[in-house]
Amino acid sequence: MHITLIAGSNRKNAVSTNILRYMETLLTNKGISVSFVDLQIVQLPLFSPDSETLHPNVETFLQTVKSADGLILATPEYHGSLSGTLKNALDYLDASLVSGKPVLTVSSAGGPLGTGSLTHLQSIVRNLHGIHCPEWLSIGAGFHGFDQDGVPTDEELKLRIKSAVQLYIDLARKLSPGVTSLLPAASKAMR
Ligand SMILES: Cc1cc2nc3c(=O)[nH]c(=O)nc-3n(C[C@H](O)[C@H](O)[C@H](O)COP(=O)(O)O)c2cc1C
Repeated sequence: MHITLIAGSNRKNAVSTNILRYMETLLTNKGISVSFVDLQIVQLPLFSPDSETLHPNVETFLQTVKSADGLILATPEYHGSLSGTLKNALDYLDASLVSGKPVLTVSSAGGPLGTGSLTHLQSIVRNLHGIHCPEWLSIGAGFHGFDQDGVPTDEELKLRIKSAVQLYIDLARKLSPGVTSLLPAASKAMR
């Protein structure tokens, strides 16, 4: 299984990117291979349907999404929605790259919670025919601390992140090709 994590903040040392880096560690500790796209570093030009050629960063980005079995998307909460940086990246995608893949969404907010961005991301994931994880994660102000190893300093937050990642892995495993043989039995049971 290969998971691509996309950090959607255009800010150095962003909280949402730190959360994603911690998730990357949790995944790799479980032997899951990952790609990490930090959109603050891998800048993508403004999407235009008129563009006839693709910027090399866009080509790499699309390849990274295509090769993934699942995605984890992180964004800062901006005006009750996701960042323009992440939305711009997602505009390059179509359903052929995301269809049937599990997607976990994560946000960091200046207020107590940022679920506007997560709700909007859920809608985008549906439009791309991805499968949204039953869990999502929003980190509000007061929970932004990470130690020098990139581990959240708040114990409760650490557990919340671990639990969301585990739920996501469980979903990804259910959707992986090795378990599609369960599908006929499931549909038979529904008749
Ligand atoms: C343009 C802009 C809009 C923002 N809008 C909101 C908002 O609607 N709700 C909120 O809780 N915080 C808002 N914030 C605060 C950010 O969500 C907060 O600083 C967040 O931690 C930034 O995430 P990052 O460190 O991952 O970039 C806004 C910040 C900026 C710069």
